[in-house]
Amino acid sequence: MRLPHLLLSCAAFMLAVTVFSAQPATEAEIEIAVGKLLSQMTLAEKLGQMSQQHYDTKSLTNPVSSANAVRNGQVGSFLNPDSAETVNKLQKVAVEESRLKIPLIFGIDVIHGYRTLFPIPLGQSCSWNPELIEAAGRVAAVESSSAGIRWTFAPMLDIARDARWGRIAETLGEDPYLTGQLGAAMVRGFQGKDLTAPDSIAACAKHYVGYGAAEGGRDYNTTLIPEAELRNIYLPSFRAAKEAGVQTFMSAFNDLNGVPTSGNVFTLRQVLQKEWGFDGFVVSDWESIKEMIAHGAAADLHGAARLGINAGVDMEMVSTSYRDHGAALLREGAISTAMLDDSVRRILRVKFRLGLFSNPYTDTTRPSPLLSEENLRVARALATESMVLLKNEKSLLPLSANTKTIAVIGPLADSAVDMRGCWSCRGEASECRTVYSVFKDYVGAKSKVLYAPGLEHASSTDTSEIAAAVKAARKADVVVLCIGEPHELSGEARCRAFIDLPGAQDQLISAVAATGKPIVLVVFGGRPLTFANAAAKAQSILYAWHPGTMAGPAICDLLFGRANPSGKLTTTFPRTVGQIPLYYNHKNTGRPVPLDPKAAQTPLGTAEDPKGYYSQYLDIPQAPAYPFGFGLSYTTFAYSDLKLEAPDANGAIIATVTIANTGTRDGVEVAQLYTRQLVGTLTRPVKELKSFQRVALKAGEQRSVRFELPKHSLGYYDNTGRFLLEPGKYHLWIAPNSAKGAPVEFVLPTQ
Ligand code: GLC
Repeated sequence: MRLPHLLLSCAAFMLAVTVFSAQPATEAEIEIAVGKLLSQMTLAEKLGQMSQQHYDTKSLTNPVSSANAVRNGQVGSFLNPDSAETVNKLQKVAVEESRLKIPLIFGIDVIHGYRTLFPIPLGQSCSWNPELIEAAGRVAAVESSSAGIRWTFAPMLDIARDARWGRIAETLGEDPYLTGQLGAAMVRGFQGKDLTAPDSIAACAKHYVGYGAAEGGRDYNTTLIPEAELRNIYLPSFRAAKEAGVQTFMSAFNDLNGVPTSGNVFTLRQVLQKEWGFDGFVVSDWESIKEMIAHGAAADLHGAARLGINAGVDMEMVSTSYRDHGAALLREGAISTAMLDDSVRRILRVKFRLGLFSNPYTDTTRPSPLLSEENLRVARALATESMVLLKNEKSLLPLSANTKTIAVIGPLADSAVDMRGCWSCRGEASECRTVYSVFKDYVGAKSKVLYAPGLEHASSTDTSEIAAAVKAARKADVVVLCIGEPHELSGEARCRAFIDLPGAQDQLISAVAATGKPIVLVVFGGRPLTFANAAAKAQSILYAWHPGTMAGPAICDLLFGRANPSGKLTTTFPRTVGQIPLYYNHKNTGRPVPLDPKAAQTPLGTAEDPKGYYSQYLDIPQAPAYPFGFGLSYTTFAYSDLKLEAPDANGAIIATVTIANTGTRDGVEVAQLYTRQLVGTLTRPVKELKSFQRVALKAGEQRSVRFELPKHSLGYYDNTGRFLLEPGKYHLWIAPNSAKGAPVEFVLPTQ
C-alpha cells in the first residue's frame, strides 16, 4: 500500500476509533459524526452502504463472499441472518477489517413476533388495543435483538379493501385512522424509548404506497389511485408512523398511476421528504428496483438504478444495480453526488441513532428472552382480544366446564403449523398450542373430550374421515368445530379468486350439523372468508384468525368464559366474493340502496323490472355478512343520550354518550366515533372512523364517555393536494359498529 494511502487509512482508523467509540449524545452530534464520516467515503463505499444483501445460509460460498463484500465496503446491511453468531462474525469484519469501520445493520421480517408469535396483524387490529399491540412489539424487539436483529420490516401499513389479496393478513384493516393508530403503536413497541438500547429495533413503514389497492386483489398488480384517494385513504397510516418516529420506510412493488413506487419521485421526494420532512432512510422491497425493468419503466439495471436513486430509494434490497451502475450513472450525470450523499447520510444517521457505532455487537451472554412466561402472557392476552365473536345464539357460549361430552372436530383443531399464519419469522410450529392440545385443561374431571379431524388437512377433498367425525359428534353434547383457511393460503402471493372454506370443509360441516348437535364454530384464517353455509349451521361463531403461539389457551379462555370476547372486525366481511370491493367508508353514489336492503330486492327469474334502480346487485343483499367494527360479547351494551357540547376554544367537537353494561358479566366495549360531511367540494364517504375508546364496564355499570374531536380531523384533501376543512352540516355517531346507531347533526361554522 503506497504511503499516502497508508496515512489515509491510519487517519481514518484514528478518526473512527476516537469519534465513534462514544455514542453521539444529540442529533447535532450525530449530524457532525455523519458529516465527518461521509467526507471520508469513496464512491464505492457510498454505493456499498446503499446495498443490502440477503444472507442466504443455504449457499456454501455465502459466508466467505459475504465477509469479502463487507471487508471491501460493498454492503451496508444484510437481511435474514441466521443467528447472533453470524451477525457478530460479519459485524467484526465490518468494524475491525473494513477501511472506515462502518457497522452493518441486520434486518428481518418480524411481522407479528420473532419466536413468540402473536396473532397476524389483521387479527391484532381487531383488539383495537394500541397499548397491548405496543407491548407485543416490545416483546418482538427484545426477542429479535437477542439474535442480532436491529431492524424489522414492519409495520405493514397498507390499506386493503379486497379479501382476495393474500397480504390483507398483514394489514391492520381497511380503515386509515385505525391503521395509523395501531401502526404507530407497533413503531413505539419496536423502537422502544431509547433507540440506542440494544433491545430496540428500527421499524419500517411498508409498503409505501398504495400496494393494497392492487387491481383484482392480485398481488403485485397495478394500482390506479387519484391523488385525493391517495392522500385521504392510503397515505394517512404512513404519516402516522412518520409522526411516531419510524426510522425507515420500504418502497413497494406496485406501479402507482403508471409510476413504480420504487421509482416514484412524487411519493418519495415530494410527499415523504418535502411535505413530511422524513429524515430516516427508504429501503426498496425485495429486488423492486430491478423489477422496474419488468414494469417497463426501465430498459435495464442501469435505468432501474437511475430511477431508484433519483426518486430517493436510499438502499437497494438484494438486487445490486446501485453498486454495479452507480459510478457510471454519476459519470454520465444521470444522478448527482448530492443525491448519493443524501442517501448515505440517511443510512448513517439511522445507524448512529441505533448506537451501532458505539455498540455494534450482540451480547450473546444475556439469558435468552425467547418464549419467556411474560412474553407468552402478552401473546395470550393479545390473541384473546383479537378474536371476534360473530354469533352466539341462546348463549351457547361460554361452555360449562362440566359439559358431559364435548367433541373437538375439524382439520384445524390440532394443526399447530396453521396457528402461525403467514410471516411466522422464527416461530416454531411445535411451540404453538392448538385448541385440542389444551382443551382437556378446561373441562371437569368427569367430562369427556372426543377428537376427530374430519379432514386430514384444511384443503383436503378426501371425505373418508368425515364419518368418524360424525360418530364423535353423535356422542357429544356440544361440538367445537375448528375450520377455516390453512396458513399456506394466506400472505404474500397467496391471492384467492374464491374466499370460501377450502377443500371439503362445507361437507364436513353439513354432515356434523345433520346430527343436530349444537355447534360452536371456530374459524381460522388470514382474511375475511365467506362461509354462509357453515355460519347458518352453527349456533356460535368465534373468528380466531391465525392466532400464533398461544392459540389454544386464548380460544379456550374464551370458549369457557375465563375471558369475555371484546374483539371487533377491522375489515368488512362480504357475503360473497362478488361483492368485493366492499368497505364501510364508501361513497353514497347518486342512487344509494335504500336502508332496508330487501326493499330493493327483485326475486331472480321474474319478468318484472328491478324494483329499484339503485347501486345494487339483483341477486344478493347489499349489506355485508358482518360490518366493519362488529363484534359481540358475552354481555350486552346499550348506548344512549348521545349529545354534543359546545366546541372548545380550538373548535374541537365534544361528544358524550352513555354506555351501559346491561348484561350479567363484566366486559369491554369498543365504542367507535364516526362522522360524515353531508356536502363537500368532493363527494365524501357515508362514514369515517375518527376515534374510538375501549370502555371496561362491570355488569350493570353505566358511564358517560366523552370524545374530543379536533376540528382538523374533519378535513380532507382534494385532487390537487389541497387540504379542505369545509363549513356545513355534519353527522356524528358513537356506536358499537359502523352499521349501528343514529347520528346527531352539527354545523361547522364558516371559519
Ligand atoms: C418481501 C415482502 C416484504 C418483505 C421483504 C423482505 O417480498 O414484500 O414485505 O419485507 O420481501 O423479506
